[in-house]
Amino acid sequence: MTLRDKMLAVMADVNAQVAEREELVELIAIALLTRKNLFLLGAPGQAKSYAINAFRSRITGARQFERLLSKQTDEEQLFGRIDLSSLIPGSVPRDVLEKNPQYQEMCSRLKARLASGQSAGDLPEQIERQRKAISELYSGEPKVNTAGKIPEADIVFLDECFKANDGVLNSLLMALNERKYTNEGRTYPIPTISFFAASNEIPNFADPQEKILEALYDRLELKVVTENISDRAKRLAVLRDKQTGRAGQIAAFFTLEELKEMQKEVSNIPVPDSVNELADDILCELRKNGVPVSDRKYLNYYPIAQAKAWLSGHTSVESVDLLSLKNYLWQKPGDRPTVEATLNRMCVNPMQDR
Ligand SMILES: Nc1ncnc2c1ncn2[C@@H]1O[C@H](COP(=O)(O)OP(=O)(O)O)[C@@H](O)[C@H]1O
Ligand SMILES: [Mg+2]
Repeated sequence: MTLRDKMLAVMADVNAQVAEREELVELIAIALLTRKNLFLLGAPGQAKSYAINAFRSRITGARQFERLLSKQTDEEQLFGRIDLSSLIPGSVPRDVLEKNPQYQEMCSRLKARLASGQSAGDLPEQIERQRKAISELYSGEPKVNTAGKIPEADIVFLDECFKANDGVLNSLLMALNERKYTNEGRTYPIPTISFFAASNEIPNFADPQEKILEALYDRLELKVVTENISDRAKRLAVLRDKQTGRAGQIAAFFTLEELKEMQKEVSNIPVPDSVNELADDILCELRKNGVPVSDRKYLNYYPIAQAKAWLSGHTSVESVDLLSLKNYLWQKPGDRPTVEATLNRMCVNPMQDR
């Protein structure tokens, strides 16, 4: 089974569980393959959380962080809190002591002596001296406890993302954009592959109060809109699966390491000049028709096309693969029809059109 087969099997398995979310499921895959962030816009109850959770649970070894944001959500809840004991002069973080073999060896000896009823001798003093020596090197370094938070998460899902308060927003922007966070003046890397963020509305960026949220919106490069299930037969099938307990069974998965290998394969897919030229034609056409596309956005288009080509089994990017930009090139939902029509017209049979 190739890596591509594994990815396709997971996508099919998720699609078997979630009705009419093929587009979303493919975008989740593209986001993970390209380390991009994905925004999901849709009314409550349209399986946004459900689809993401179904996908995430099929990636073994991926650490996950999920949070419903509100104005009360603070940075500590997302990025972890400072370990207060690390601020006490002379204190040594537990993990530093655990990594020191001499210290550990002395502790084991002490334990053994006490267990066998012997006296401790001068071991406690020796241990204390060792601890002091280590503290000369390590104390005063504030330590942040990040277990289970974003700094230790491969996949992050932020629900109601626009509810974030201003303080959280600034940290989130840095995390989304640079995969870094700052604590006590120090900057640390974040391993997160993709941030998924959902909301049932887009803020009114013209309102000065909400303007600040626009930066967050911009950093969610991929965007998708969900709808209710349109097909009656599919709705009834979902209902049946729920009633029979079939929903939620996992038949396919891949590991985090395999995902990283997949990312390498994707980035190695060649992009022919003709495809770059077509992308440029699309850019000019969209701008001409009043759809704003920044240079930054345009210049970062190709990983998405490479991911789509990889998923389609193409050995290099083809013009049809640019159809995947449908969920990349719009900013305002009102621009979606223009973007889609332009792509359909220019990518499906480009030679005919030019
Ligand atoms: N397209 C769908 N396919 C399968 N189940 C669905 C679908 N849409 C909604 N559901 C059901 O409705 C529930 C609510 O979806 P949820 O993911 O919580 O919505 P959202 O996050 O969009 O508000 C899901 O857990 C699932 O049981
Ligand atoms: Mg939800």
